[in-house]
Amino acid sequence: GKGEYDHYMLKEIHNQPTALSNTIEGRVENGDVAFEALPAGSFAEIETVQLVACGTSYHAAMYGAQLLREAGLRTEVVRASEYDSTAGPVDENTLVVAVTQSGETADTLDAVRTATDRGARSLAVTNVVGSTAAREADDAVYIRAGPEVGVAATKTYSSQAVTLALLTQRIAADVPEATPAADREEMLAELEHLPDYVDQMLEFTEAAELADDLLDSESYFFIGNGLSRSVALEGALKFKEITYEHAEGFASGQLKHGPLALVTEASPIFAVVTGDGDEKTKTNAIEAQSRGAPIVAVGPDDHALVDVADATLSVPDTHPVWAGLLANVQLQLVSYHAADMLGRPIDKPRNLAKSVTVE
Ligand code: M6R
Repeated sequence: GKGEYDHYMLKEIHNQPTALSNTIEGRVENGDVAFEALPAGSFAEIETVQLVACGTSYHAAMYGAQLLREAGLRTEVVRASEYDSTAGPVDENTLVVAVTQSGETADTLDAVRTATDRGARSLAVTNVVGSTAAREADDAVYIRAGPEVGVAATKTYSSQAVTLALLTQRIAADVPEATPAADREEMLAELEHLPDYVDQMLEFTEAAELADDLLDSESYFFIGNGLSRSVALEGALKFKEITYEHAEGFASGQLKHGPLALVTEASPIFAVVTGDGDEKTKTNAIEAQSRGAPIVAVGPDDHALVDVADATLSVPDTHPVWAGLLANVQLQLVSYHAADMLGRPIDKPRNLAKSVTVE
């Protein structure tokens, strides 16, 4: 049941420290990453990684894709519903990674089937043990977030992103052309603290007040660059999904190429800054602010954007690889509180289903 919480979504947001501890459990040892069924050498033949996913899982896949690229792996991230028209060629040295909470999303299953028919090797990154994706793929890695009831994916996004970051290190250690992160020890050490950081944030968050202050707006924009780009897109998806308000997420640098025309005093901009490519976000946020838009900086208190922002959602200082996940938790809370104030049926938004089993 929901226990002390009004909604499953809020319960699942608060469950993230536990979910993340389970995701990480036993997978980092002496600075190395280990996955149960995938020992060292498992990925030695891989030359290209292709991630396929939908919705929130696609945003986690984007996060993972950037880390894979930074590790020197040829990587592509494809919206599963557009697989036929947008995916590049695959062969037996391609690893197709299906990122899917339920393991039952028709578009994602279909994309993996197409890729494996063309000779690719497949891996499911999923939450549901024994799901179709897990059964059909050559291998499966479980994100171990525990059951998620709310239609809006929350804790599973965080656990997916962490799993993909760990998988990146695992693959990079096997593939000769790839290079595991130079500061990997620091990064993995910070990962151990991630559940505590989420706990701290949940205790001191300003999200409810902020949602209240901004609720009369016309549109809500979310921007970010680098790793924060996927966080911005995810923030907007969550916001529209449960509040029914108009929300859009953009790469920071895209704002001036069109969306800026929509920017007014009634369109707050959530600017996600996590220490990766933030300069672009700052410049573009200030540009929007000069057109009257209130800026909400989502990032560490000592970030340069915080000095000029109209409001802040503060995120504990951590390694840039994890900071975006903390920013995302703050955005989940803003969406939740906004939807709650609007009286929306948060756990079952209109027209949506927890898993989309039709194409
Ligand atoms: O079960 P999956 O992860 O494959 O589901 C993919 C999307 O349908 C899902 O993430 C959807 O976007 C969520 N409702 C977002 O909160």
